[in-house]
Amino acid sequence: MQQQYTNLKEHYKFTQEDIDILKQLKPHMEEIVEDFIDGFYDYIWGFGTTASFLKNKKIIAYHREKIKEWFINLFCGTYDMTYFMYLYKIGEVHVKIGLPTHYVNSAFTYVRIFILKNIQNSSYSQETITKSIMAIEKIIDMNLDVLTSSYREEELSKFLSMSKFEKTILSGLKRFTSYINLLLAGALALVAFFAIGLFCYDIYLLFFTDIGIEKGILTVLGSLLVLWAAIELIHEEVKHLQGKGFAIGAFIMLAMAALIRKVLIYSLSSEKGEDLLVIGIVIVCLAIAYWLIKIKKSSELVD
Ligand code: HEM
Repeated sequence: MQQQYTNLKEHYKFTQEDIDILKQLKPHMEEIVEDFIDGFYDYIWGFGTTASFLKNKKIIAYHREKIKEWFINLFCGTYDMTYFMYLYKIGEVHVKIGLPTHYVNSAFTYVRIFILKNIQNSSYSQETITKSIMAIEKIIDMNLDVLTSSYREEELSKFLSMSKFEKTILSGLKRFTSYINLLLAGALALVAFFAIGLFCYDIYLLFFTDIGIEKGILTVLGSLLVLWAAIELIHEEVKHLQGKGFAIGAFIMLAMAALIRKVLIYSLSSEKGEDLLVIGIVIVCLAIAYWLIKIKKSSELVD
């Protein structure tokens, strides 16, 4: 652990000069800490979900004090094992409460901008300002590195706590699903190819048979709809292969497109009344399922 933190300072080229500069800035930072904390809270409250983590006045008051302490400590001048262990512990607390690392990263943007703005508006010489900016950037980046390392280690420890057998099964399953996904992508490309065939066939029916202009145009429109949905599905599958979620919504959309095509065709026939009713009900059910999936997705994005 000791070695890890020595390396950290080396990797960020954090020098004694940086340490001295940060130490010199401490009195100035103590003067502006109240402005800092007010702005910090305005900023994180803007996330919209902050209240679900900082649940009551007592926790907020505690967190405010801890953040102020952390802020002043950025300029403490002693960046030893104890300092980095303290940062690591903060990260662990955030992991424990299930705070997404995204919020911490974003809060750091506020911290960075607040400090840099204050330094640039100060009466220090241009040389001191330049050196201060470099030292501040380094200490902030090192803080973010350690704070988020708890998140990475949480992931890693989940993996390390598995038995050899479990790890083999997990890796095997991952490889298997990636092959299946490739197969699925290929099958979808084939579907799109057939959809193009269907579109061409419908064009043929429109111009070279006695299908009638009205039915012909509706049929062409329907096959275009299916083609569009198939392309959307391929697009979603590509996103899935790139590591994003499973696109059940796109499958539902394809099913709706296929059924709407049938409705367009049947709507011209007086004998298909019952079929039309059943298809209509199925389309409404699919639309409701699609809507529910969209709602769930957007609420996950907000979280
Ligand atoms: C620059 C970013 C942040 C820093 C430096 C920071 C710092 C801290 C510190 C020092 C603690 C106390 C750890 C301890 O008890 O030992 C803490 C706890 C906590 N933080 Fe943060 N925090 C940050 C961002 C956030 C954000 C964005 C949220 C919420 C949206 C948050 C929510 C919490 C909560 C809920 C606790 C636990 C409070 C308790 O003990 O009940 N933190 N944080």
